[in-house]
Amino acid sequence: MTINVLADDWIQVARSEEVGPGEITESEIEGIELVVWRSQNGKPCIMEARCPHQWSHLGSEGTVVGEEIVCLSHFWQFTQDGKGWKENLAGRRDRKGDIKVYECQESGGAVWARLPG
Ligand code: FES
Repeated sequence: MTINVLADDWIQVARSEEVGPGEITESEIEGIELVVWRSQNGKPCIMEARCPHQWSHLGSEGTVVGEEIVCLSHFWQFTQDGKGWKENLAGRRDRKGDIKVYECQESGGAVWARLPG
């Protein structure tokens, strides 16, 4: 993928067409593995690729369910603000570890992340 800079500290992490509703694609910034995913309602999100539970890569082990990304290894799920949850069979949602989310915007047919630091 070609890396373009939008302005100052924004960097392109995916083309919009690469990540439709409910889809996940992989990217990276400065060696940090990322996933770029879009909720079923169309909102993009950029987060670290590795699940904080046991380090599964959400690009290969993740799936989008509604407005969350779910790690299929042990079914932790993450909202677009990075909060981690797990839902038991009775429907109770318990807090789990959080995952880092990068500031995100979509412009000019691409998804952009604000560079850390
Ligand atoms: S590695 Fe993701 S839920 Fe266990």
